[in-house]
Amino acid sequence: MKTYLVTGGAGFIGSNYIHYMFRKYDNDIRIINVDALTYAGNLENLKDLEIRDNYIFIRADITDKAAIEKIFSEYDIDRVVHFAAESHVDRSIKNPEVFVRTNVLGTAVMLNCARAAWEKPDGSYPEGKKFLHVSTDEVYGSLPDDGKSYFYETTPYQPHSPYSASKAGSDMLVKSYMDTYHFPANITNTSNNYGPYQFPEKLIPLLIHNALSGKELPVYGDGMNVRDWLYVDDHAKGIDMVQEQGRLFETYNIGGHNEKRNIEIVNLVIETLSEELDDSDPRKKNISKDLIRYVTDRKGHDRRYAIAPDKIKAEIGWEPETTFAEGIRKTIRWYLSHEEWMQHVTSGNYQKYYEDMYGDR
Ligand code: NAD
Ligand code: DAU
Repeated sequence: MKTYLVTGGAGFIGSNYIHYMFRKYDNDIRIINVDALTYAGNLENLKDLEIRDNYIFIRADITDKAAIEKIFSEYDIDRVVHFAAESHVDRSIKNPEVFVRTNVLGTAVMLNCARAAWEKPDGSYPEGKKFLHVSTDEVYGSLPDDGKSYFYETTPYQPHSPYSASKAGSDMLVKSYMDTYHFPANITNTSNNYGPYQFPEKLIPLLIHNALSGKELPVYGDGMNVRDWLYVDDHAKGIDMVQEQGRLFETYNIGGHNEKRNIEIVNLVIETLSEELDDSDPRKKNISKDLIRYVTDRKGHDRRYAIAPDKIKAEIGWEPETTFAEGIRKTIRWYLSHEEWMQHVTSGNYQKYYEDMYGDR
């Protein structure tokens, strides 16, 4: 039985990945989820897994070397899948330091502890020990709005936000470990994910939450920025396939050629929500394009992201399974049937966050 150490498993992609892995491997794997439970970490995302003997949660900060060393000494870890990070661009613009701490220092601690636990005296590593670093397409910078240029694995790094700069730093550390210590790792760079359990600071769940509450839908700048959207389960599948079938030491871009302008997303959320809500639901009459409000643009706002997934498709055979029309409907249905989840995450500190972020826009 393989033992996985998953960092950041209580967050959006991490919790979807853990669910995906148990659906796929059931009792053939053990997962240790290490998460500090910041504002973005939510154990409610994993409640149904608590009865499993092969699922263990440990609350720890990845910058805490002693805590991470202890986990590696107590468990014989076969695979590390490293999600834990500060992940929201707008927060990084307001408060960059914590991004450097978690994303750069935290990744260094994870690499150091894995290497110390795995490396043999002759500098080699036991068969099957693998570290996968989950990263973002934002490290490549911004593409021209031409609909035909793409991010390849060979595209030079040109991060613009403190978030993407810190992720670029963490990617470079992983690359340095592979080059210097022949450390058995992969990096994946992925486009914008959407799906269940996403915290409503990110565009799609924020729009759903605001529309249902009759609040304005804030659109940054002219609303014409382009993002390349991927359903989160397709990302989880890609991560697993890279770790099991990919070539070690390689980077793989994961994306499904699904570019949309932000304003298209806003309109689609409005339309799909209106279709999904019952005519008798009093919220339905408020949901219309009248809610759209153009607000001050994000500082340094990258214009366009678009992943070229040619390498992962050719070498590993990965392709996304969920069309955008299906994925967005599934996502909206999930939020409509998990209103309690949304209430829990938007109570308390969320109100303050919203005021700080949008109050003067
Ligand atoms: P998220 O913000 O939803 O979750 C991050 C998780 O990490 C939370 O559970 C949080 O508690 C935990 N965490 C934060 N700091 C920690 C620390 N110091 N120690 C331990 N745990 C800590 O993020 P997400 O959207 O699920 O993203 C996961 C990873 O995927 C990140 O590395 C992100 O850069 C990358 N990524 C995200 C997207 C996307 O669209 N969301 C796309 C590409 C790559
Ligand atoms: O590309 C991958 C990245 O995607 C990940 O690495 C990040 O962790 C993830 O947060 C995401 O970054 P973005 O900045 O692209 O996602 P966000 O949901 O914050 O914004 C998507 C687009 O929508 C972006 O162009 C900004 C815009 N936007 C966002 C919010 C929150 C708005 O117009 N209004 C909003 O209120």
